Order: sequence, then C-alpha cells, then structure tokens
Amino acid sequence: MKIIAILGSPREQSASSAIVKTILKGAEENGHVCSVYEVNKMNLKGCQACGNCKKNEIDCVLNDDLKMYWNDLHEADVLIVSSPNYHANVCGPMISFLNRHYCLRKKDRTLRLKAGKKLIGVFSQGNSDVNGYESAYKWFLSRFEAYGMELQDIIVHTEAIPVTDDAEIIKRAYELGQKL
Ligand SMILES: Cc1cc2nc3c(=O)[nH]c(=O)nc-3n(C[C@H](O)[C@H](O)[C@H](O)COP(=O)(O)O)c2cc1C
Repeated sequence: MKIIAILGSPREQSASSAIVKTILKGAEENGHVCSVYEVNKMNLKGCQACGNCKKNEIDCVLNDDLKMYWNDLHEADVLIVSSPNYHANVCGPMISFLNRHYCLRKKDRTLRLKAGKKLIGVFSQGNSDVNGYESAYKWFLSRFEAYGMELQDIIVHTEAIPVTDDAEIIKRAYELGQKL
C-alpha cells in the first residue's frame, strides 16, 4: 500500500510528528511505501480561488511544494494528517493544506478522487482532556471524509508531554501502522 503522511508541527521535537513517524515505522516494516510532507518546511500557499481546477477539472495548478502531492494522493491508499493544537484547532498551515483540496470536487459536485482511501488523524495538545477539542478534530477530518476518505483512527496526544519510545501512545501508533 502507499501511505502519505502530512506533518503539521513546526517543532523538531514534535509529539504529533513522532507519533506519525511511529505509525510509518510499523507500516514500512510490513512493506508499505510511505511519503512524508512536512508543511512547515514547504512553500505551501493557501487556495488562491483562481477557479482553474473547477473550470478544467484538474488538480490544483499552483506552482509550489504541493505540486508533487496530487499524484501521490491519487495513488495513495492511506492519508495521515497531523497537527499540533493551536488556539483550540489545527495549526494554520494545515488549514491552508486542507483548503487546497478544493480541486478534488468538480462543479457538478462529483469527486475527482477515487473514494475509499483510509484517513488517520494525529493531534497533539496541551490540554489534559483528551476530548477537549474533539469537535475541532472531527470537523477537520470530516472535510477529508467529504472527499471520499474513510476515517480509520484518531490519535490525540495530551498535556504536551514529550513522547518517549516506551509511551503507551507510541505503542498504539506502532500497532496501528502494523495493522495497515
Ligand atoms: C500558538 C500556540 C497555541 C496553542 N494553543 C493551544 C490550545 O488552544 N490548546 C491546547 O491544549 N494547547 C495549545 N497549545 C499547545 C500545543 O498544542 C502543544 O504544545 C502540542 O503538544 C504541540 O504539538 P507538537 O509537539 O506536535 O508540536 C498551543 C501552542 C502554541 C505554540
């Protein structure tokens, strides 16, 4: 299977990125092929509302670091999106990333993306209440579900604790990757 992972955190020691990388480790051990996009290191614009995608029924034409992503996405079986929680929601670059998917729906509302890709969300927050931002995470993931993806799992890391290799959440992430 082909797996795409989007790392939303700008931090080198990011908890959300560590969890995603562990999912990928488990998946790669089973022979799955993974590609990683680190949004903070990319030149990634938000949607420019140019309308090219709708007029011509094509992937986003913006010439930035998301250019390679569209082919990857069409071929992928799994999309993993991750983000730190900033102000009770996903971080800004992940909203820009989401908005670029506008190209996947035609003017007649039908989809340009093959349905049934698996979707996994990984979020990290300071709040100790694991359900504290449930509605924000569910909203974010629902936008990808609206493009035909099927939600497989959500991992929420709390209290901004640095993740260690023996942490329960890391074990869970590894097992999730192994099951893909
Ligand atoms: C700008 C900013 C806003 C934040 N807002 C919240 C918030 O509203 N709620 C919360 O629980 N944590 C908040 N945090 C804490 C982060 O979500 C937390 O440190 C998280 O573990 C970072 O994830 P990462 O390690 O993957 O970067 C905020 C952090 C920053 C830098």
